[in-house]
Amino acid sequence: MRLDIKNLTMAFQSRGKICVVFENISFSIGDGRFVILLGPSGCGKTTLLSIIAGFQKAVNGTVELDGIPVTKPGPDRAFVFQDYALFPWMTVGQNILYPMKQQRISRSEQTERLNQLLALAHLEGFENHYPDQISGGMKQRTAFIRALACSPRVLLMDEPLGAVDYQMRQMLQEELEAIWLKDRKTVIMVTHDIEEAVYLGDRVIVMSGGNGGIIEDMRVRLDRPRDRRGHRYLEYKNHLTRVLKTALQGEEPGTEPGRGFLAAL
Ligand SMILES: Nc1ncnc2c1ncn2[C@@H]1O[C@H](COP(=O)(O)OP(=O)(O)OP(=O)(O)O)[C@@H](O)[C@H]1O
Ligand SMILES: [Mg+2]
Repeated sequence: MRLDIKNLTMAFQSRGKICVVFENISFSIGDGRFVILLGPSGCGKTTLLSIIAGFQKAVNGTVELDGIPVTKPGPDRAFVFQDYALFPWMTVGQNILYPMKQQRISRSEQTERLNQLLALAHLEGFENHYPDQISGGMKQRTAFIRALACSPRVLLMDEPLGAVDYQMRQMLQEELEAIWLKDRKTVIMVTHDIEEAVYLGDRVIVMSGGNGGIIEDMRVRLDRPRDRRGHRYLEYKNHLTRVLKTALQGEEPGTEPGRGFLAAL
C-alpha cells in the first residue's frame, strides 16, 4: 500500500497554550517499503503514527493510502503500541486470537495461525498466561504477533522491541525481517536504536525536537540480510549517530548530510 503524507501539522492545546508538535510534514512511502522513524523523545513519532492509523486527526494536512484519505482506523492498518496495549483480562493466546475472531477467520485456521505465531515469537507454552504473568519483553512479542495475526497491509509499530533484551532483540529483528520479506507489507517502525534502524530500514526518517520537522531522510542501500559488522553498515550507523546528536541539540544539521554521505559511498 502506498502512503502519502501531505503538509501534516499537529498541535495540542494545553492550559490555554497551543503547542505545535510538527508542522507541514510531507513524505511518501512506496508500497512494501520498510521505513524507520527516529527522533528525540517528544518530537511527535507516536503522534504521527496514530494519525496514520486514524486514531487522531491532524490539525491540517492529509494522509492518503493508495490515494484515499484516511479518516478513521481500519483493518488495513495494524498498530503495535509503545506500551503493548494487551488486553489484561485475556491470556496471551486469547489476545492473539482476538483480531482473527474479529475478521471471522475459520476456527481451524485460527488455531494453526496461533501456533505459527507463538512459535515465531518463542512463546510456546505461554498461551494460557495472562499479561501480568509474563515479562515486558514477552508482552512486546505478544503485541507484535497479535498485530501480524490479521494480515494488515500497513504495519505501524511504535518501538515494538524496546523492552526486549539485547540478544533476543537481534534475533527478533532478523525474524521480523524474514516475515516482512515474505509479503513485504508497508512498514513504519519507530525505534530509538540506531543499530535496529540500519539493520531493518530501507529508509530512515529522522525527526527533530523543537518542531524542527524532518531533518534527515536516508536510504539504506545495503543487501539483506545485512552484515552488522560491514564497513558501509557502520558508516550508516555513524552518520545516524551524528544526525541524532544534532536533533537532540535542536540545531540545524549540516548541509544536507544525507546527500553528501550517500554521494561518498
Ligand atoms: N493528547 C495529548 N495532549 C497534549 N499533548 C500531547 C498529547 N499527545 C502528545 N502530546 C505532546 O506531543 C508531543 C509529542 O508526543 P509523542 O508521544 O508523539 O512523542 P514521541 O516522539 O513519540 O516521544 P517518545 O520517544 O518519548 O515516545 C509531546 O510534547 C507530548 O507531550
Ligand atoms: Mg512515542
